[in-house]
Amino acid sequence: MQAVGAAVENIDDIEAAVTPLLTGLGKRHIQFTGFKNEYFDAFTEAMMYAWHEELKGQFSGETSLAWATVFEFIMHKLKEGHAAALANSDKVQQNLVSNDQIASK
Ligand code: HEM
Repeated sequence: MQAVGAAVENIDDIEAAVTPLLTGLGKRHIQFTGFKNEYFDAFTEAMMYAWHEELKGQFSGETSLAWATVFEFIMHKLKEGHAAALANSDKVQQNLVSNDQIASK
């Protein structure tokens, strides 16, 4: 929720202000066992559904479109950070394997 708040507070300069925060946050999710990149999209769907159910008519048209846009931006950055960290950890693991192979020779 803090991440959503930060994105909204810095809406005029959102790219520069919150990109490092969001990519860093996405990155930290690689340490949570079983977490998959696509869960970020599921999170958006769940939030949009819950707010629609709770706010009914107040959460439609422009309002819902505006929030969908905010979520899309946030999730894009989280996913980017998470995917980059995953790719990096794969590389680290490959290095460990080759170091082990070297050590056993
Ligand atoms: C379905 C999607 C998601 C799942 C399954 C998930 C899962 C998790 C898990 C398991 C933790 C660790 C909690 C703990 O050990 O106390 C965590 C931490 C956290 N998550 Fe997520 N997450 C999801 C989406 C998000 C999104 C969309 C955001 C932000 C907009 C977010 C922000 C955070 C933050 C701030 C933490 C605290 C840990 C830290 O700062 O390093 N998560 N998440």
